[in-house]
Amino acid sequence: MNQARFRHFGEANRDEWALIDDRFRDYVNDAPRRVLEHLHRLAGDTHGYPVDRFEHCLQTATRALRAGADEEMVVCALLHDIGDDLAPANHAEIAAGILEPFIDPLNAWMIRHHELFQGYHYRHYFGLDRHAREQFRDHPAYERTVRFCDDWDQASFDPDYDTLPLEHFVPMVERVLTRAPFGGLPPIVEEEPRS
Ligand SMILES: [Fe+2]
Repeated sequence: MNQARFRHFGEANRDEWALIDDRFRDYVNDAPRRVLEHLHRLAGDTHGYPVDRFEHCLQTATRALRAGADEEMVVCALLHDIGDDLAPANHAEIAAGILEPFIDPLNAWMIRHHELFQGYHYRHYFGLDRHAREQFRDHPAYERTVRFCDDWDQASFDPDYDTLPLEHFVPMVERVLTRAPFGGLPPIVEEEPRS
């Protein structure tokens, strides 16, 4: 059997769930490859910026790495804008959603809020309050989010910067995204459950 035969979950048995679980774990383990494939979609159109989003992501990760950030933070830097093409209106949610099961909740918060924090550098050009991030000054992730945006994210639009290639970061992404996810299903039970 390489495929379940049930027509709805009420007909499913343990063996079918075991098969699906097996296939799902392979699928999960392949997620880093698919995530990086998607990151490549950010290459090409610069949308008017000095570099395209792919280059920007690589540069942000390179700066984080060279500043001594830990591996998890470097991966956050690499993937923080991966939602740009799918969800331009709330792109930070996409990266936060992808990374959240595998990383420190404070880093997930940082990714989720990086757009507002980054806005310190441009919101006033649009008539908005550039200091809006100050509402989170007492949050435990405030300092790291400011540092992320000020030192690495907003600084990474330099076409002449010595940016590391994606290959440099692939093993890091593989290690972080194949951690045991928070909230994942435990191993399947040995026998058919009673009910
Ligand atoms: Fe960015």
